[in-house]
Amino acid sequence: MEVIILRTREQATVLTARLIARALRQKPTLVLGLATGRTMERLYCLLGNMHRDERLDFSLCRTFNLDEYIGLPPESPYSYRYYMNEHLFKRVNIDLRNTHLPDGMAADIDAACRQYETQIVECGGIDIQLLGIGSDGHIGFNEPLSALRSRTRQKALTPDTIRQNASLCGGEENVPRRAVTMGVGTILDAKRCLMLVTGSTKAHILAKAVEGPITSMVTASALQLHPSCRVIVDAEAAAFLQGREYYNWIFRNEPEWSEHQDLTR
Ligand code: F6R
Repeated sequence: MEVIILRTREQATVLTARLIARALRQKPTLVLGLATGRTMERLYCLLGNMHRDERLDFSLCRTFNLDEYIGLPPESPYSYRYYMNEHLFKRVNIDLRNTHLPDGMAADIDAACRQYETQIVECGGIDIQLLGIGSDGHIGFNEPLSALRSRTRQKALTPDTIRQNASLCGGEENVPRRAVTMGVGTILDAKRCLMLVTGSTKAHILAKAVEGPITSMVTASALQLHPSCRVIVDAEAAAFLQGREYYNWIFRNEPEWSEHQDLTR
């Protein structure tokens, strides 16, 4: 795992956008795993700007989102399909037929989950999986005690997650109680993982996930097992990391980060 700390939320988000843009330029048919949530809103705005200003080309890109609520149709403003259309897909030249989210309206949810896993494999697997972290340590909707080898399936949300997502759904009463999510095992199968974490509210859980023991109580801690996982954070989120000095040294000295030193100002 590699942790990169930048001073501001904007700098951390810009770096994450650059890493995705570079991967897309290197491989136009990139299979990109996507997340929703407040943290990603600015990131998707930046990717939209890169498409507009730098001709970042999404025309051959394929995407798979981590999760979707059960029981919300795609046209619901609280559904993740709606979120993705608004925040990213409308802003870039992606072919909507190449964008995939779990089907939270399927008559047979379990069959749809198996189908989702098959679709990912048929696309050659996820090249980069973008992740945020929930206040309870979840990735996707893999709530505490999710098996670390779990696959795409339905999960009940914790009261914590329902509260966390209330502002995105116009109040707690509108947050569905169940969702379909890629499993921790599905996420760990991605070739690379890229987690973006910002803000002081994430500082405690981030320290547990990155430097604590691997435990299903904090499913993001499973990323420690991944051979290629980058965690990009701002100073507020990094506040409780023990290894801050070392992580800063890596960013300042490793050649691969030299072109991003403008972000340290
Ligand atoms: C949603 C997802 C979640 C969020 C997490 C953080 O697709 O994957 O794990 O990344 O709940 O959400 P925000 O960014 O709203 O704090």
